[in-house]
Amino acid sequence: MRAYRLTMGGGIDGIVAVEEPEPTAGPGQVKVRVRATSLNYRDLGMVRNPRQGAIVPLSDGAGEVVEVGAGVTRWKAGDRVMGCFFPYWEDGPVTPEHTRASLGGVTTDGMLAEQVVLPEGAVVRTPEHLTDVEASALPCAALTAWNSMFEAYKLVPGATVLLLGTGGVSIAGLQFAQAAGARTIITSSSDEKLEQVADMGADDTVNYKDDPDWEQQVLKLTDGRGVDLVLEVGGEATFAKSMAATRIGGHIASIGGLGRVDENAPRLPMIGRNAEVVRMAVGSRAMFERMNRAIEHRQIHPVVDRVFGFNVAQDAYRYLQSQQHIGKIVITIA
Ligand SMILES: NC(=O)c1ccc[n+]([C@@H]2O[C@H](COP(=O)([O-])OP(=O)(O)OC[C@H]3O[C@@H](n4cnc5c(N)ncnc54)[C@H](OP(=O)(O)O)[C@@H]3O)[C@@H](O)[C@H]2O)c1
Repeated sequence: MRAYRLTMGGGIDGIVAVEEPEPTAGPGQVKVRVRATSLNYRDLGMVRNPRQGAIVPLSDGAGEVVEVGAGVTRWKAGDRVMGCFFPYWEDGPVTPEHTRASLGGVTTDGMLAEQVVLPEGAVVRTPEHLTDVEASALPCAALTAWNSMFEAYKLVPGATVLLLGTGGVSIAGLQFAQAAGARTIITSSSDEKLEQVADMGADDTVNYKDDPDWEQQVLKLTDGRGVDLVLEVGGEATFAKSMAATRIGGHIASIGGLGRVDENAPRLPMIGRNAEVVRMAVGSRAMFERMNRAIEHRQIHPVVDRVFGFNVAQDAYRYLQSQQHIGKIVITIA
């Protein structure tokens, strides 16, 4: 079968195509024929990480079960499934044991292969209304947004959510906030992208590049009160401003590191806003299943910006790096 593997510290050019024997499903495992896989910001870090092993990259994938190992009860050949970002986090609060491995992480093979073998508890059923391309967008970015809004925090209708930039997590957050009847304010470096997210139904938009004091705009848009919840994907570049844009007693889902984390900057405004900050770690299989029920019920289709063929996987990484996308980038495996 065909797959890609990373070369230690080799960057995007170090993602190499390989031909390997087909894997077989052992006891308690399922073999999945992967049809589509999506990229996350994290995957750029993986190709640069000098500690990275020669693994198959990418955490997110969707396809169908083609073989089940001894003792597997949940799945049969033909079932359409998606992989879970943390294959050993089935339910309950996050623990180091749950997050000891992540698909496409330092030591664990991911989904950029024609076939993968996973524990039976590390896949979930694909909602019927989604194509494999759409489903492949869900396991990391969408689940992180879901967890931030409905598991770690209880978003209620009428609350205001601040979304930073138009990447995978933020666009999934936009869709979930709309489905929940929340008000959305979204930022971007691009007016063109802001027009597109306004067409998708974002209530208010702010260009953070044109206006470096974008948090003041957010405050103005909320009559000086601040937002109830921020999906904080920026890290050092945005954290203090996100805090300033949050209402007293509000909530910050600390998700990202689009910049380095600054230990000092957030402390003072955090005290000032009396806000609650929770660090996110994608989510469990049980959360993934709850999210999928909502996606199915509201017939939500993830936003896929562009689809690349398997033979040009490196081009998909370069496109991700260029930050031209809105939502998700997908690689199909024909
Ligand atoms: N903790 C977790 O569990 C978890 C899970 C998933 C993701 N993450 C992290 O969350 C972050 C986002 O991931 P992703 O996959 O959604 O990324 P992505 O799709 O690559 O998003 C990139 C977009 O982020 C926006 N951006 C970049 N710098 C920004 C800034 N200074 N202020 C506001 N927006 C900025 C840009 O949007 P515009 O072009 O519109 O400006 C850019 O296009 C990453 O740091 C990722 O590692 C963490």
